[in-house]
Order: sequence, then structure tokens, then C-alpha cells
Amino acid sequence: MTEASPTRAERIISRCRELARLTDVPGETTRLFLSLATREAHTKLLGWMREVNLETRTDDTGSLRTIRRTANPNAPTLLLFSHIDTVLNAGPFDGVLGVVLSLAALEELSTSPLPFSIELIALSEEEGIRFGFPFLSSLALTGQLTAEHLARTDADGITVADAIRNFGLNPHHISSTCSLSPNTFAALEIHIEQGPVLDAANESIAVVEGIIGQSRLRFIFEGHANHAGTTPMPLRHDALAAAAQWITAVEQYAATHNPLVATVGRLEVFPGAVNVIPGRVDASLDIRHPDDTARHEAVTALEAAAQQAATSRGVRVTASLQSEQATVSMNPALTTQLQQAAHRAGHTVRTMSSGAGHDAMIFAPHVPTTMLFVRSPNGLSHHPDETVREQDVEAALATTLDFIRALHEPLTTNH
Ligand code: HGY
Ligand code: MN
Ligand code: MN
Repeated sequence: MTEASPTRAERIISRCRELARLTDVPGETTRLFLSLATREAHTKLLGWMREVNLETRTDDTGSLRTIRRTANPNAPTLLLFSHIDTVLNAGPFDGVLGVVLSLAALEELSTSPLPFSIELIALSEEEGIRFGFPFLSSLALTGQLTAEHLARTDADGITVADAIRNFGLNPHHISSTCSLSPNTFAALEIHIEQGPVLDAANESIAVVEGIIGQSRLRFIFEGHANHAGTTPMPLRHDALAAAAQWITAVEQYAATHNPLVATVGRLEVFPGAVNVIPGRVDASLDIRHPDDTARHEAVTALEAAAQQAATSRGVRVTASLQSEQATVSMNPALTTQLQQAAHRAGHTVRTMSSGAGHDAMIFAPHVPTTMLFVRSPNGLSHHPDETVREQDVEAALATTLDFIRALHEPLTTNH
């Protein structure tokens, strides 16, 4: 008996899982900016794009771009996008689902006459893991990538510019190859929710009306390494003990300032020997709040908490801002059109704000932008058990197709 051919949602899911196996670390999904695994992901994606006769190109931050042109060469362009880089030990759907689902939509629409072209951009860097600041590709596409960004170094001392050159691209060409198509009139990102709201409500999809702001900082605690056996407690300058007190202060502050969230996700201890008092600690801090003023207040309060934890131990601490992104609203007219498309596709759909950062927050001030969320079962993401349900992927694809077919422009100019 012949096997039933996979549904379009099953095909999308299996393609995401296929990409998840293209990794820098065997046995897990870790694919950082312009790594060797990125090259493999490019090959896979370009193959899928070309097998449906889409023209493709790679820009000089390593984002893949494909476009389905309408007959009119002067027609405006709808932008579909998401990212193909991952966090460490990631799940298979963060970013990639939006790219693969958008490609499936392009395929479905290949014979539909549309009054606009559709460009899909698979962004090479959103998470900010390799170089410590997120949204590298979308910053380049909106003319915001600076020489300072290009000079940032990774853990091996490689600069962003060198990483681009090592990948066979040219950082000097970014301004010419990394810009939005001139007549882009609307942008849509499809992405997993990465949180518990849709799963708790037992809903498949949601429309995103805003994305909350975030600050990412680096804290260096510098004490004095010494012998763990011979150094009396009062004579120590233990950098890790200072950091540990600070980390609990971070948790305590966030717990009492809801809906603030604050996370120390990276902690490096030097020299890291069992019998040596830690002389140096390098830590990250990720702070998010819907209100930008409250977020800034939290940064100030947690910098002070670090100073207090350090000073009481004769430890020095320096804090440096790595990246900052204000809270951003999606375009109301486009968001309404997306809600209407969801209803026509048969889905009750709530609007919600996103606690996760997305490239849509970088594009939104430059082009009318909106987002479609897909349920994250168990609210789990940035974890290998991150998953999606077939019926939710189908709901997102049906909504996207209806949205595109009904999309009319011009939209309100207020981005
Ligand atoms: O960190 C975030 O919010 C997103 O997953 N990049
Ligand atoms: Mn992510
Ligand atoms: Mn993402």
C-alpha cells in the first residue's frame, strides 16, 4: 500500500527538523552566525528555493534572499522573513519555521496573480550569540549596522568583519547588498510564540501587536585569585562569591517588579580550577520590560547591586551595555488585516505582545510590519524539546495565504 503523501504542514515540520540537523555541535542544534553549519543550511535552503524556480541571492551579512516577482516590474514588494541562526542547544523551530513556512506560501502562490512581488529573507543573525548583540542582519538591512558592530569580536577574537570575509562575503558591500527592496510596502514575520500563552488558551495562532524592549549587558567581576586552602576567608577577594550575591539580587529584583524579567544566562569563571579562588567572572544580563523607563530603572538598580556585592569583598565590577532595543508596536492596519485573514481561515485569534525579541522589531520603524505567532506546546523554546503541532502550522499557513491574497496597499504610512 503506497504511503499517503505528507500534508503541507508535515512537510514544513520535516524540513525544519532537517535544517535542525545542520549544526556546529553534533548531537544538538547549534548554528551560529556564518558558521560551517550555516553554509550547509544555505545549501539546503537554496536547493528548496531553486527547485520551485525562485531566483535567489546571498547578501553580505549572509542572509539568503529569494523573490517571486509579479508581472509588473514596478510593483511594490511584500517582505516575508525570519532567521536561520540558533541559540546554543536550540530547538528546531525558532526562526526556521518562519522561513520554511514562508517558502511553502511562495510555492502555493506560484500560480496566483498578485499585484505585488514577494521577497523572502532568511536572516543570518538574530540571536546575538556569537558576537553578543542581536539582530545583526536586520540592523544591516535597515542601515543601522555600524563600524563598531563590525569590530565586535567573538570568543576567538574574530571580528564580525572577518567572519563575513571568512564566509566569502565582503563587509564593504553591506551598504549596497543589504538593503530592503526599494518598494517594500509591508512585512510579515511568522514565528513560534516561545511562551505559554497560546498553549494555556489552547489556541493555534495569535497576532502580535507589539514586542517588548530589551537590554543586554556584560558584567566583569575582578577580584583576586589565590590558594583555596591557605587563604583565610576574611582575606579573600572572591569574584564568584560577589557575582553569586549579585545574581540572587537580580532574581529578587525581577520577582518584585513584575512584569520585568531578568536573566543571567552566561557565566564564565576564571581560572575555573577547583582549588583556586575565582579571580574573574564574566557574566551576561538580559533585561526586558514592556515599559522602557522601567527597564532603564532596572538596569540602574542592578548595576548598583553589582557594585554593592563587589565592594563588600574588595572586588571591582564593570558593566557594559551590549545592545538595547526599545519596545515596538506592530503596524495597526497590517495587524488588523492579519487578524481578518485568521478569522477567514476559521481561527479565533487573540492579539498579544511578544516577550521574545524578533527581527520584526527592527523592521517595524522602517516598513509596516506585523507578526503571526504559532503555539509553542508546553511554552517551551530555546530548548531541544521545542516543538510545534501540525494543525497549528496548517492554521498559520492558511492564515498567511489568505492574508497575502487579500493584502491591499497602500497601508497607513505610520510604520
Ligand atoms: O532572545 C530572544 O528574545 C529571541 O529569541 N532572539
Ligand atoms: Mn530565539
Ligand atoms: Mn527567534
